[in-house]
Amino acid sequence: MTDNMMQFCGTQLPAIGQGTWYMGENAANRRQEVAALNAGIAQGLTLIDTAEMYADGGAEEVVGEAIRGKRDDVFLVSKVYPWNAGGKKLAAACEGSLRRLGTDTIDLYLLHWRGGFELAETVEGMQTLIAQGKIRHWGVSNLDLADMHELMKIDGGAGCAANQVLYHLASRGIEYDLLPWCQSHKIPVMAYCPLAQAGRLRRGLLADPTVQDIASAHRATAAQILLAWVIHHQGVMAIPKAATVAHVEENAAALNMALTAEDVSRLDNALPAPGRKVALDVV
Ligand SMILES: NC(=O)c1ccc[n+]([C@@H]2O[C@H](COP(=O)([O-])OP(=O)(O)OC[C@H]3O[C@@H](n4cnc5c(N)ncnc54)[C@H](OP(=O)(O)O)[C@@H]3O)[C@@H](O)[C@H]2O)c1
Repeated sequence: MTDNMMQFCGTQLPAIGQGTWYMGENAANRRQEVAALNAGIAQGLTLIDTAEMYADGGAEEVVGEAIRGKRDDVFLVSKVYPWNAGGKKLAAACEGSLRRLGTDTIDLYLLHWRGGFELAETVEGMQTLIAQGKIRHWGVSNLDLADMHELMKIDGGAGCAANQVLYHLASRGIEYDLLPWCQSHKIPVMAYCPLAQAGRLRRGLLADPTVQDIASAHRATAAQILLAWVIHHQGVMAIPKAATVAHVEENAAALNMALTAEDVSRLDNALPAPGRKVALDVV
């Protein structure tokens, strides 16, 4: 059992879960993707993050296959497109996700990003889904602080159970205001792209000399240092996507790592957070 557990939707979960973007795109990779997700579940990465958007529902089908017979062992997160996030469209989108996932309830259902419907209509629809037992909790994604303030003013808006945003060592804008606000409101942050998409979003990140140096001191990989760094922040979970068992095992092992205060301060100096408000980073 790892020390890196966190309070999440009224339960304790490991602070690393599994992403699924780009899974389900190619039938030839399906067996490997299912095996990777299963390896992750076996290693304790029991939260699985998906969306109706990924491979047009194909990623949800891969997840559905992976969790067959072990639904109760996992915490399922899916997301609704903004243009489906209200009224009958929300109900239909949720039904579609439930069918593809092969379950009768989603643990956490997120508004993927803002747009299309008023937040109030989305909140109302989410509350209806909870009342019907189709989802257990609802939350948001890609909402910056001003949006969160607006959400809190809406009836029921304070029921938001998580905000999923881009966060990695080379993209630290949320530390200025959104992250402290979420921490003080006890709204967990789900860090997407915690590996900066294996460095594709920030070329050279995995080869950064400070990251490499700390990795060798811990006999770890650069990816593990990036994950350990994300989850050392209070109330933050990382959801790396890995479609290979080797990557999944490496990511799961990062749950048992602990960066020292000196590691953290070296990383802060090498890749500092901006000292001012910057627009929320998105992909
Ligand atoms: N809410 C949103 O708007 C939003 C946006 C983007 C992402 N997300 C969610 O967040 C998840 C993570 O983000 P992401 O997939 O964009 O990026 P990511 O997790 O930062 O990076 C994924 C890439 O890293 C590779 N990788 C995984 N583990 C590795 C390791 N130990 N060493 C080296 N490379 C490794 C993967 O390769 P392999 O697959 O070959 O193993 C893949 O190419 C998504 O899958 C999705 O569930 C949400």
